[in-house]
Amino acid sequence: MEANLLLMSKDDIVKGLLEGKLSISVHGFGYVGASIASVFLRRGCLVVAHDVKKDIVEKINYGTWNFKDDLQVYETIKKAILEKKISATTDYKVSVERTNFHIIAVPVSVKGRGGKIFVDYTHIVEACEMIGCYLKRGDAIVIETTLPPGTTEGMLRNILEDKSRMFAEKDFALIYSPERIFVGRAIQDIESNYPKIVAGFGEKSLRVGEALYSLVAGKGVICMSSIKAAEAEKVFEGVYRDVNIALANELESYCEKEGLNFHEIVYAANTQPYCHIHKPGVGVGGACIPVYPYFLLSKDCSLKIVKTARKFNEKRPYEIVDRSLKLFYKKFGKPKKINVAILGLSFRGDIADNRFSPTISLAKLFHKRGCNVIVHDPYDYSRTGLPNQVHFTKNLEEALRGSNIVVIAADHSIYKELDHNVLMKLCAKEHLIVDPKGVVQLNKF
Ligand SMILES: NC(=O)c1ccc[n+]([C@@H]2O[C@H](COP(=O)([O-])OP(=O)(O)OC[C@H]3O[C@@H](n4cnc5c(N)ncnc54)[C@H](O)[C@@H]3O)[C@@H](O)[C@H]2O)c1
Repeated sequence: MEANLLLMSKDDIVKGLLEGKLSISVHGFGYVGASIASVFLRRGCLVVAHDVKKDIVEKINYGTWNFKDDLQVYETIKKAILEKKISATTDYKVSVERTNFHIIAVPVSVKGRGGKIFVDYTHIVEACEMIGCYLKRGDAIVIETTLPPGTTEGMLRNILEDKSRMFAEKDFALIYSPERIFVGRAIQDIESNYPKIVAGFGEKSLRVGEALYSLVAGKGVICMSSIKAAEAEKVFEGVYRDVNIALANELESYCEKEGLNFHEIVYAANTQPYCHIHKPGVGVGGACIPVYPYFLLSKDCSLKIVKTARKFNEKRPYEIVDRSLKLFYKKFGKPKKINVAILGLSFRGDIADNRFSPTISLAKLFHKRGCNVIVHDPYDYSRTGLPNQVHFTKNLEEALRGSNIVVIAADHSIYKELDHNVLMKLCAKEHLIVDPKGVVQLNKF
């Protein structure tokens, strides 16, 4: 439907979406895109899914959608396909011309190593260039991708205005709304757990954004004073986690040296309402937390705490490998070969996501130090990211059999249930369990 959202009242926008007179395209139909589409589909809205990957588009159009990493999202998309509420395309022209709201959920990540790390804007630049080409007067662009503060109003607005030959706020609404979901419970997060953060390039854009999200955000909408502030809000959430995990990792190492039980101490400390010591681990993974600090550091390297925490977390796998081998040598001497089993390829428990997983670094480092390495995870991965010499298995017994060092890297439920007798039976006689997260109740051993 042709409509000028900038001239419509909030009530009319909501009514238009509920009655199917206004519709939404979602660009980038990965985890976030499918989740945000789902909450609008659950309100009965019409959605066009757009992705550069042909197989994603075909799975919607042929009714063979099978991404089950989030069951509620899976079921919503399946139902919407049957009810013909969703269609999909790889063509920007089709997705943009047929819809009024264009939600962008493509990734922005970082590239490079060590000294020089830079933000990779390739996907979002392409999405904005192409959407700009087909944008109609009165449409709304809504960016959900996490970005370095200043990106939307600066680089992305320039691209959109240049390609569309129109102006933000005057001709089209420009809205930013960071996605705050936790993989595995996305619908609940958007619909009932957190308020939605929304910002507009001007008052009219903000009103359009507020109307859109008021439809799905049960906890309400927080309107920010500027897009840059909304971008910073999301980055700060990630940086807060990174810095606090670094602190937890450091305190865990201290406890290890001092012969103290970190988990006992933190359990007690966190009963005080101002203390929120995080869980330590073998490193920090995922597409968000290890990436977002660089969204600040790439522009301002004077942020000392942010930088120190990030470097500290990046070194954590080295520390875990060093510590494990030293302890093993001290307890059992230096055998010819050490068999290492790393449990968990995913960066977090009970999901299949190995993006920036510290297990990949651990496996490489143990291998470099001459160990035989096997990695276990109960999930399927199209690409493990592990070196060829490291074996990947979904069979836990196979991973544990004859192992000298077992590192518990992810808190998958099946590891929480690991039985002491099973471990004793399967591991080599001389073995060590390394479990900084406290997944297996180590004091049992
Ligand atoms: N996954 C999370 O938990 C999470 C949480 C909060 C925010 N985010 C933000 O959302 C972004 C996307 O995350 P995700 O987990 O959905 O990533 P993803 O890799 O699962 O999905 C991204 C999708 O975008 C598609 N794509 C890439 N370039 C495109 C283009 N030019 N046009 C159309 N489609 C394109 C890819 O093919 C892919 O299907 C992240 O970069 C982050 O900024 C993610």
